[in-house]
Amino acid sequence: MSVVLAKSAGFCYGVRRAVELAERTAEEGRPCVMLGSIIHNKDVIARLAEKGLTAVERPEDVPEGSAVIIRSHGEGRTVYDQLRARGVEILDATCPNVTRIHQIVAQAEETGRQPVIVGTPDHPEVTAIAGWCSHPVVVSGAEELEKWLVQDEKRRNLPLTFVSQTTSTRKIWDDCVKKAKKECTNAEFFDTICGATSKRQEEAHRLAQQCSLMVVIGDGKSSNTKRLAEICRESCPDVRLIERAADLEPSALSQANVVGITAGASTPAWIIKEVYDKMSEENMEIEKSFAEMLEESI
Ligand code: F3S
Repeated sequence: MSVVLAKSAGFCYGVRRAVELAERTAEEGRPCVMLGSIIHNKDVIARLAEKGLTAVERPEDVPEGSAVIIRSHGEGRTVYDQLRARGVEILDATCPNVTRIHQIVAQAEETGRQPVIVGTPDHPEVTAIAGWCSHPVVVSGAEELEKWLVQDEKRRNLPLTFVSQTTSTRKIWDDCVKKAKKECTNAEFFDTICGATSKRQEEAHRLAQQCSLMVVIGDGKSSNTKRLAEICRESCPDVRLIERAADLEPSALSQANVVGITAGASTPAWIIKEVYDKMSEENMEIEKSFAEMLEESI
């Protein structure tokens, strides 16, 4: 039995940057809160809470005199306005890839175009992008785009600017582009799927084809982790989405010949290592590169 770890498993650049900012701020000991959980990972949140850094849900909950960290998902324009009005210091960990989308949709509207956001409507990143538009349209995929277009025939001739949630899948985006190119007369497209996300998904897809068991590590609420599991299920018969090593059933491992491991963008290296250690306890042959990679990333 052998284990192969996807090279792209774990923290992406934007999440790492946000977590490092939060940890630095917590260690400085100055008054600070996070606006929403900085990442979808209970263990990381618990570690930050131990250092005195907790989350509030709304801008009006940020205590006076406290700094506030904006997470990598970003926030809408009104949230920044509300925070500035309260006079609190903003520590902005919005991922630069997400900031770029805010700029695209804001500029599109300024030039009279209609932004169309391809993504999960209630995902915080998507609601933040929508928060940079006065009349956002959000579609979860080509089917919803079709429904929106047929509601009013004039929409096919509107100047439309398409952007994607950074963690959407290539297929969802490509299907929307195909439909819009076929049915709309004035559409432009900004492929804003994050490179780190595409790489992680492509690697998971390739790995899943070679494995009898895929272990996807990440928080059950993390949309990029759930998407990774979906992608793996397309080509692997047994996919386990776990949050931590304790969730891994030894009986699942005993049936498998080749086990693949990948992890969502919010999964820290120490949790990946715990899973690795648990597999070692099961006397599995671990690929050398796996251990080396963990050493580098912790
Ligand atoms: Fe940024 Fe991509 Fe991560 S958009 S937050 S680097 S998934």
